[in-house]
Amino acid sequence: MSPRTRRATGKGAAALTVAARPFHYRGRGLRCDGVSLAELAEAHGTPLYVYSAGQIRYRFGLFQEAFVGREATVCYAVKANSSLAILRMLAELGAGFDIVSGGELERVRRASGQKNKAALGRVVFSGAGKQVWEIDAALKAGILLFNVESEAELGLLAARAEALGVRARFALRVNPDVFAETHPYISTGLREHKFGVEIGLARAIYRRAARSKWLDAAGVSVHIGSQIRAVGPFAAALARVAGLVGELRSDGHEIRYVDVGGGLGINYNDSPMQPRFDAARKVAEYAAALAKAAAGLGAVHLLVEPGRFVVAQAGGLLTRVVVVKRNGAKTFVITDAAMNDLIRPALYQAHHEILPVKQGRGASVKVDVVGPVCESGDFFAHDREMPRVKADELVLLLDAGAYGMSESSNYNTRARAAEVLVDGDGARLIRRRETLRELMAAEIL
Ligand code: LLP
Repeated sequence: MSPRTRRATGKGAAALTVAARPFHYRGRGLRCDGVSLAELAEAHGTPLYVYSAGQIRYRFGLFQEAFVGREATVCYAVKANSSLAILRMLAELGAGFDIVSGGELERVRRASGQKNKAALGRVVFSGAGKQVWEIDAALKAGILLFNVESEAELGLLAARAEALGVRARFALRVNPDVFAETHPYISTGLREHKFGVEIGLARAIYRRAARSKWLDAAGVSVHIGSQIRAVGPFAAALARVAGLVGELRSDGHEIRYVDVGGGLGINYNDSPMQPRFDAARKVAEYAAALAKAAAGLGAVHLLVEPGRFVVAQAGGLLTRVVVVKRNGAKTFVITDAAMNDLIRPALYQAHHEILPVKQGRGASVKVDVVGPVCESGDFFAHDREMPRVKADELVLLLDAGAYGMSESSNYNTRARAAEVLVDGDGARLIRRRETLRELMAAEIL
């Protein structure tokens, strides 16, 4: 079924179809699924993150469906968007979670609540610098797997497991030395990166780990980077891991899990009105490549950790134009959202499509869309051809559902954006705007 004709599942969304993005014009007004963005801005102010529950469910469901028939758990990467309401929705769908801190563990705990407590047993804990309190909290929570990134961390894990009297399941995160075409800041699979351990050293580390009765060498993990569009590098990494798993099993380790990490990329550059991106096909292609690379593995439980692919295109950042000004040959559209709300353009030279909320009829103009923060790096787009917009009008930055709110800050003492979750024809505030009092509450005069 094509993503454009497939029906969204979930309450209130029955009449909607799922395109690559949930944003579309009705009349001249931009909507998220059935809800007018102008009305949301009126009700909740701007900047405002707006997410489509239907799109998130759909995207997550693609991964679940792609691995039907084999033992697998889809562990959503919490860092992409760690909103409690979104985590709860995913926990209800049976998601596992990939966490990288004690803070994210606490989020998963609160989001799953009593009803979905089992979600804690589907947590994998990655990260290159886990601290004692974080390891302890995860051991007590009974998480599924520690993705261990160094031999020193393995020693610490053994010591904490012994202190708490529980056995720790771990997977060594190996570095397969696979090159993946992506931005250098989010590529992680090369030997010179800080992540994981060199695959050639892994066998000896597992051998030494076997001496501790507090460690259970349950798996092997890998993660080669993020925003990787081709599926080849994932398959290449898994093929190398498969070779290692064979060796480890012949050494007597009972390897049951292989965690292939996250990283599947989306199409940020697609024209918003004629998207060519077929999410369903992409996930199927990804799963097929993994299945092929895993063919020789025998019985193994696959773990996948998608983040961006699930939430990025489900969300947008709604912002109001504060002023339009000309400086020399340039026209600047200054919005009330800034780099503290969405840092991706400044940090990774990322491209985000921008749409006026009221569809323009005039000619396009070339503008820089920027925030009010005191840095020239505070921009959303340079020399962007877009319909002319005026002060007080609303625009939407697309594909901001991943690494938007979760990478936001209070720089320039700006309160962080509010967040709204649209479900079909309804919408609910899932995070209210911060107050200035809250911003300063932890400070001591
Ligand atoms: N698993 C591990 C161990 C990771 O480090 C990451 C992302 C993921 C899974 C999820 O990757 P995804 O499926 O979302 O690509 N802030 C950057 C991306 C940073 C990715 C960090 N690690 C951006 O906005 O492009």
